[in-house]
Amino acid sequence: MYGLVNRGIREMVIKQCGDAAWDALSEKVGLEWNDFSAMESYPDSLTYELVGAAAEMLDTPAEDILKAFGRHWVLYTARSGYGEMMDTWGDNLVEFLDSLNSLHARLRLAMPQLQPPSFEVTDVDTREKTLTLKYFSDRPALAPMVVGLLEGLGERFETPVEAEQVKEKTETGGYDEFFVRWAEETADVALPC
Ligand code: HEM
Repeated sequence: MYGLVNRGIREMVIKQCGDAAWDALSEKVGLEWNDFSAMESYPDSLTYELVGAAAEMLDTPAEDILKAFGRHWVLYTARSGYGEMMDTWGDNLVEFLDSLNSLHARLRLAMPQLQPPSFEVTDVDTREKTLTLKYFSDRPALAPMVVGLLEGLGERFETPVEAEQVKEKTETGGYDEFFVRWAEETADVALPC
């Protein structure tokens, strides 16, 4: 995966657990450098190793690390040169989810080795505020990250999101599916002036 992802993991660990935790993690994984180049593609195994080592070090399931990373990713990309892109691809959760494939396709112009996931939004019910999201990827075990991403997008659009995985892909393929429920937009607490 592109170094942008590994950098995001690094930033999350430093922000939440401190520099010493990152140093320990980087030593555990045997990294010979302290940072990643955002626009360089690294083997996927490195990203999985980082997640696995963080899980071991923090005595937390890898699923929880991935979920936390998904939440972090939304804020991190917005701060790492992709804020404008995030602003362009939708004014609300549903629009944004509908644009995810185009967003990743656009990124591919600058990141030719990108192997992006793809998504399909169905059963949007704006009265009940629910939808179904299908997630297709050649990579295994990243569904918890999608739950975190959805929660992070909920934070971004100030509409708290609950996502439940209702279908899991198999070793031979298929897709993960999530039932997504979002809440009313939180009203701005503004002065009446
Ligand atoms: C502007 C914001 C975003 C940027 C810059 C971005 C960029 C990337 C990059 C560089 C990768 C690594 C893929 C590779 O190197 O082959 C990736 C993977 C991924 N992205 Fe995005 N992304 C963004 C927003 C999102 C959002 C909002 C979601 C929400 C669902 C999402 C879902 C994923 C997932 C699940 C993966 C893991 C790879 C996989 O499933 O195979 N991304 N993205």
